[in-house]
Amino acid sequence: MEVWDKMQTAGSMLVAMAIRGSRTPMEVVMEDLYHRVARWISSSQRVVVFTGAGVSTESGIPDFRSPGGLWERYNPDDFTFQRFQESEEARLRYWAMSTEMYRVLKTARPNAAHLAIADLYRIGRLDCVITQNIDGLHQASGLPRDRVIELHGTALEVGCLGCGKRYDRDEIQERLLRSSQAPRCEDCHGLLKPATISFGQQMPQRETAEAFRRAEQSDLFLVVGSSLVVQPAASLPLAAKKAGALLVILNRDSTPYDSLADALVRGSAGEALGKIVGEVRTRMGLAPST
Ligand SMILES: NC(=O)c1ccc[n+]([C@@H]2O[C@H](COP(=O)([O-])OP(=O)(O)OC[C@H]3O[C@@H](n4cnc5c(N)ncnc54)[C@H](O)[C@@H]3O)[C@@H](O)[C@H]2O)c1
Ligand SMILES: [Zn+2]
Repeated sequence: MEVWDKMQTAGSMLVAMAIRGSRTPMEVVMEDLYHRVARWISSSQRVVVFTGAGVSTESGIPDFRSPGGLWERYNPDDFTFQRFQESEEARLRYWAMSTEMYRVLKTARPNAAHLAIADLYRIGRLDCVITQNIDGLHQASGLPRDRVIELHGTALEVGCLGCGKRYDRDEIQERLLRSSQAPRCEDCHGLLKPATISFGQQMPQRETAEAFRRAEQSDLFLVVGSSLVVQPAASLPLAAKKAGALLVILNRDSTPYDSLADALVRGSAGEALGKIVGEVRTRMGLAPST
C-alpha cells in the first residue's frame, strides 16, 4: 500500500518536511496521497463513487458497526425480513427501531463528504454514486436522482409488501402515532414496511444489475465509508478492479479489500474528500468550490 510504503521511507520524508515547512510526516504522506488520487480522478473518464454508512456519520447518523453504532443497541437477528413477515410483535419492534433512526435521518443535512461528491459531478468528473445508504443525503446534496443508485432502498418512503404501492414516510409515521398496530396498505391490506432492504430480503434487481454494470465500466472506483462486509454490495469493488478500474478505498477502519486497493486513505471522509476534490479543481484550472 502506498501509505505504508511511504512511511518506511523516513529519510525522504524528513527532506520533504524540510522543503515543505513544518508539517508532520503523516501530513506530508497524506497530502501526497490526496494529490495522487486527485491526479487519477482528473484524468479519469468514468469515476464511480461507492458509499456506505461512513459517508453520513459526519451528518450525525450513526453507522451500524462502529462503537456506539446501532448494532450495539439492537440485535440484527431481530430485524430480518422473515421475522417482519412472521409476527405482529416483530413488526412493532421493527417500526420502533426504524422510527428512532428515521427521526435522526429526517433532520440530517449533507456533510462535507456529500458536498465534495456532488462537486465532482458539477465539474464533470462523476459517472454515478452507488450507495448502501437509505438516508437520501446524496440527492439532498444536489446530485440528480438518476446519478444515485440506491442498493438498499430509501427510508424516506414506505412500500406495501402486497401490491408495491409507495407511501410518503411522514404520512405513515403519523399513522403510527395514532395506532397500536403495525400499519397496513389502504388498497390491499398488505404489510407496510419502510422501503429499505432488510437482512434476508431480496436485493432490488434493476439497481443491483445497474450497479455492477457501472462498476465494471468505471475507470476509477472510489469506496467511501463502507466496511465492505455486506454482500452483494461488497463485491462491487472487486468487480470494478477485475474489469480494470483503479480502486481507491477511503475509510476510517480497515476493510477486507484493503490489500487490493491502488490507494488506501484512512481518515475522515469529509476532510479527505474535501481536500481531494479541491485538488481536482486546482488541476482542472477551476476556482475553489464556494
Ligand atoms: N446513513 C445511512 O443511510 C445508514 C446508516 C447506518 C446503516 N445503514 C445501512 O447499514 C448497512 C451497513 O453497511 P456499511 O458498510 O454501509 O456500514 P458499516 O456500518 O458496516 O461501516 C461503516 C464504515 O464507515 C467507516 N466510517 C465511519 N465514519 C466514517 C467517517 N467519518 N469517515 C470515514 N469512514 C468512516 C467505519 O470505519 C466503517 O468501516 C448498509 O447496508 C446501509 O444500508 C445506512
Ligand atoms: Zn398494497
